[in-house]
Amino acid sequence: MKESLPKIITSTVPGPKAESILKRRDAAVPKALCGTIYPVVIDKGEGAVFQDVDGNIFLDWIGGVGVLNAGYSDPRIVDAVQKQAERYFHTIFNIVAHEGYIELAEKLNAIMPCRGDEKRTYFANSGAECDENAIKVAKAYTRRSNVICFTGAFHGRTNLTMALTAKKSYALGMGPFPAGIYRAPYPYMYRAPKGYTEEEAIEYYLEGLKKVFDEGAPANEVACIILEPLQGEGGFIPAPIEWVKAVRKICDENGIVMIADEVQCGNCRTGKYFASEYWKEAGAAPDIITTAKSLGAGVPISAITGSAEIMDAAIPGTIGGTYCGNPLACASALKTMEIMQEEDYAGKARHIGELVNKKMHEMQDKYEVIGDVRGLGAMIGIEFVKDRETKEPATELVSKLIAAAFKKGLLIEGAGTYNNVIRFLAPLTMTDEQTKRGLEIFEEALLEVM
Ligand SMILES: Cc1ncc(COP(=O)(O)O)c(C=O)c1O
Repeated sequence: MKESLPKIITSTVPGPKAESILKRRDAAVPKALCGTIYPVVIDKGEGAVFQDVDGNIFLDWIGGVGVLNAGYSDPRIVDAVQKQAERYFHTIFNIVAHEGYIELAEKLNAIMPCRGDEKRTYFANSGAECDENAIKVAKAYTRRSNVICFTGAFHGRTNLTMALTAKKSYALGMGPFPAGIYRAPYPYMYRAPKGYTEEEAIEYYLEGLKKVFDEGAPANEVACIILEPLQGEGGFIPAPIEWVKAVRKICDENGIVMIADEVQCGNCRTGKYFASEYWKEAGAAPDIITTAKSLGAGVPISAITGSAEIMDAAIPGTIGGTYCGNPLACASALKTMEIMQEEDYAGKARHIGELVNKKMHEMQDKYEVIGDVRGLGAMIGIEFVKDRETKEPATELVSKLIAAAFKKGLLIEGAGTYNNVIRFLAPLTMTDEQTKRGLEIFEEALLEVM
């Protein structure tokens, strides 16, 4: 099945088995989790495709929203988790240490492109948790309480991370949220003020950040600035390197910890193992990097890495938790990292990225509705507009495109402040033939809904 092309064999999607299971879902699960966009129930997955319970095969360009960079159920990862399960499922690391945790921390310390000759890593279970932890450590280290985040940011759904997340539809009716959180404008270059050069736009966005120091929290009272190297939910927007360098300088001048949230963009997605490598090459490495999603290839685990000096500021009792760095998750993450390094998954991301970018740019030349194609490696955003001049978001078109592609066996997802961006997050195991077929379906679906 690993190399299969998408194929719908039922006369309607969902087919009868999926429909009946989804009815049970609707009766058993809160409404908020019973979306109607993808009426699909998985039976088994391999590589970049999965089969649903009715035998339809879907090509998955969502990949669990960035969790499946290594594909569905690589047998070598399955074997590593099984072997670990036979020895023990669980220990709470604060009490009984296990070597897998330590080995994974050592490996991440060796490759994480953050500052620090000597690094430390510890683990949590989700993206939101690792971001919360990074902020806790930054507060402990600086002994300051304020945090700066950005427009378009997504950091999770816990109380603190809902406060950091920009789009309030993710937090409707859930407040109050913690104090001490300030938002600056993220450099959304496609939507920079009209007529600005790149330099002027970067300056404009930096002014917005500096304004927070005047009107929100003075710079010497800010513990950390948290940002995504390539914004995910916000619309797949890469941070321009000159802006990152300026933010790094602001952090250095004011003793602020710079946190890179690589929950979605890490683990080979952007053509480097971690996107912060691009920053490091430009002399702007962050202080702390958080990552999750594809780290464990689907077994829940997240990581927080930084210099020993910063990380050791957290005092015993303040970090860790029952399942953090669970042995099954560490076994999965270790095998995933071994495979991704040996088989150059960052190179695979660059290759897939080239194919997808080429086709998307060709389509942009043909179809006025594609306003922007952007990204790094295989993390590509395609922004749809009603009019290239006004850039009015084509939100409805994107919803229709998602539905039309789904009916043809291609899973794609939207993103962006205006829900008018398609985000490309296919497993990096995708074959060239699958990529080609996916792109054909994408264009067919687009023509249909245009
Ligand atoms: C950049 C980023 N940070 C944090 C999170 C939250 O991760 P989780 O859903 O695992 O809590 C996400 C999830 O999409 C994300 O994309």
